[in-house]
Amino acid sequence: MIELSDVHKAFGNNRVLQGVNLTIASGTSMVIIGGSGTGKSVALKCILGLIRPDSGSITLDGLDVTKGDRDAFLARFGMLFQGGALFDSLPVWQNVAFRLLRGSLKRPMAEAREIAIEKLRRVGLKPDVADKFPAELSGGMQKRVGLARAIAAEPEIIFFDEPTTGLDPIMAGVINDLIREIVVEMGATAMTITHDMTSVRAIADNVAMLHDGVIKWTGPVDEMDASGDPYLDQFIHGRADGPIEAVR
Ligand SMILES: Nc1ncnc2c1ncn2[C@@H]1O[C@H](COP(=O)(O)OP(=O)(O)OP(=O)(O)O)[C@@H](O)[C@H]1O
Ligand SMILES: [Mg+2]
Repeated sequence: MIELSDVHKAFGNNRVLQGVNLTIASGTSMVIIGGSGTGKSVALKCILGLIRPDSGSITLDGLDVTKGDRDAFLARFGMLFQGGALFDSLPVWQNVAFRLLRGSLKRPMAEAREIAIEKLRRVGLKPDVADKFPAELSGGMQKRVGLARAIAAEPEIIFFDEPTTGLDPIMAGVINDLIREIVVEMGATAMTITHDMTSVRAIADNVAMLHDGVIKWTGPVDEMDASGDPYLDQFIHGRADGPIEAVR
């Protein structure tokens, strides 16, 4: 469904993506792992067309993501940004229902609010959170509001950038189950970036490791432990010693 082919992206002389090849099949859950600053978020923004690669191609259903109707393209996606990216001036429910209050997905106000409250419940937040403002919430609660927004319009394709970072282990488990459910029950295609190896095992069908600007290893999650790849091994076991240098 999504295909990256020889994608390059540099910022000045910081060569971030140096020939990324990656395929994500429809209805599957791909998890991207890799060290901090290796370009995981940049790769995700390239797929969304928010960052334009220097070269290479990115296609969705065989069509170039930079061409065609941008609104129709983006309407197929739900997105949780790493920093949350909530609108400070809007109450929580309007953040969650953002897409449902405007554009082609527009619903009546009362219905949009009801959907927002239901999605908040899915991420473990009570209805009284709906009328609060983002600044009144804890970091983990803000993260979950971002997740509720990502799934609110029931998109076909969902991108999660660090969905469990900053959550307690029980809430992280709830979110992992939710992501799994969205893929299995709703048939969505998911791409998740995470550093949380528990989360990787809970939600991935396939895993790809980004290192030195390329996908160093990719395969089914059950083949990850016996890969024999020293980079992947070092990463999944969190060892300080190995081919990956700790200072970058
Ligand atoms: N808009 C930008 N302008 C300039 N440099 C950028 C921009 N976005 C990202 N970078 C650089 O690209 C590199 C990769 O950043 P990216 O955010 O993709 O890392 P990441 O793999 O998501 O890391 P983390 O795990 O810490 O989130 C970094 O060196 C970063 O400074
Ligand atoms: Mg990132």
